[in-house]
Amino acid sequence: MSEKVVLAYSGGLDTSVAIRWLNEKYGYDVVAVTIDVGSEKDSSAVKEKALQVGAVKAIVVDAKKAFVDDYIFAALKAGAIYENTYPMATALARPLIAKILTDVALEEGAVAIAHGCTGKGNDQVRFEVAINALAPNMKILAPAREWGMTREETIQYAERYGIPVPVKSGHAYSVDENIWGRSVECGILEDPWAEPPAEVYIWAKSPTDAPDMPAYCEITFEKGVPIALDGKAMDGLELINTLHEIAGTHGVGRIDHVENRLVGIKSREIYEAPAALTLLAAHQALEDLTLAKDQARFKLKVTQEFSDIIYNGLWFTANRVDLSAYVDSTQRLVSGTVRIKFSKGNCIVVGRRSPHSLYAHNLATYEKGDQFDQSSAAGFIYIFGLPVKTQAQLQPIFDNTSEKKDEGSGK
Ligand code: ARG
Repeated sequence: MSEKVVLAYSGGLDTSVAIRWLNEKYGYDVVAVTIDVGSEKDSSAVKEKALQVGAVKAIVVDAKKAFVDDYIFAALKAGAIYENTYPMATALARPLIAKILTDVALEEGAVAIAHGCTGKGNDQVRFEVAINALAPNMKILAPAREWGMTREETIQYAERYGIPVPVKSGHAYSVDENIWGRSVECGILEDPWAEPPAEVYIWAKSPTDAPDMPAYCEITFEKGVPIALDGKAMDGLELINTLHEIAGTHGVGRIDHVENRLVGIKSREIYEAPAALTLLAAHQALEDLTLAKDQARFKLKVTQEFSDIIYNGLWFTANRVDLSAYVDSTQRLVSGTVRIKFSKGNCIVVGRRSPHSLYAHNLATYEKGDQFDQSSAAGFIYIFGLPVKTQAQLQPIFDNTSEKKDEGSGK
């Protein structure tokens, strides 16, 4: 009996060729595992194709709920966004996929796990580092990195073995898609000066085509997790999909980013993430209301670190676990409702309220009922400004401080 390899199978050309190649080159029996994290592909057709192409077994795992609850919402609570721009749909799904691959590999007694990533991207790193953490002794194979075939040669290989080649659509984009967003690269997008053609975007309308009439929606959070839309309780998946629809219709969610890859190259990628951008903005607004200034300032540093951890494939590390514990603690009172206005490509927070709000009207108001003791401000400023005043007197650096000093000493 041949040894088994578990392959992350998407149904695309590379992973289909990989099934054949792993068998031909190393004599492995391939168990194809397709993990559904919310792409629009038909998983039963993907499973059929795996078997047809030569897998000894094909498994489809619906991981949508785990993806939302354990990864997407963990990232949302942390405010995670890479280089302040990319909500990391692709990056976030990788550790979950790696976990499922590892579980299946151990169950099946497989000797290795294989993935279809090339040697230039972040995803190979994310898969392999996650597998290293979950099954440190597991062998990992990356056929597409090893076989050294060009795209044309891969197609010829596929044709030789009767592997169906997806009809060429004319534009050669590479697309990764899941619940949290779409990632699109290659083709004309490799020119960072070229405006993305309209066909690149599927989820978010062009702001110019968005309805003139704005739409409003209220998002309710419980401990940092969104639980209702317009007062209607929803599970995470339904809530995200509903937001994709509303925000996308109003032209919210298009992202055009030249990012710094972990493997040292800058790359240009187009993202669509209508729900992610909306939820990140709403969540931030609720934190603005419920976290104290020092909490918010410190959390920002954790946000930055957490974002890099996700992007760099370090989900399954002690450092990430520790930071998640910190993030969860910050979310204790991040409950309440945020009101959003969608209009012509904009997603604007226009209202927020929380039973744990730190906003005190009697302190903030300029109207009747003001309880802020303005006379205390003078003493506060005296002490707060004291080191500035002292330094200006003793070490003048601004024109007028030195002039004053010269005038004074000249007399
Ligand atoms: N650059 C993104 C990341 O590293 C997305 C990668 C996948 N993109 C794609 N078009 N297949 O997370």
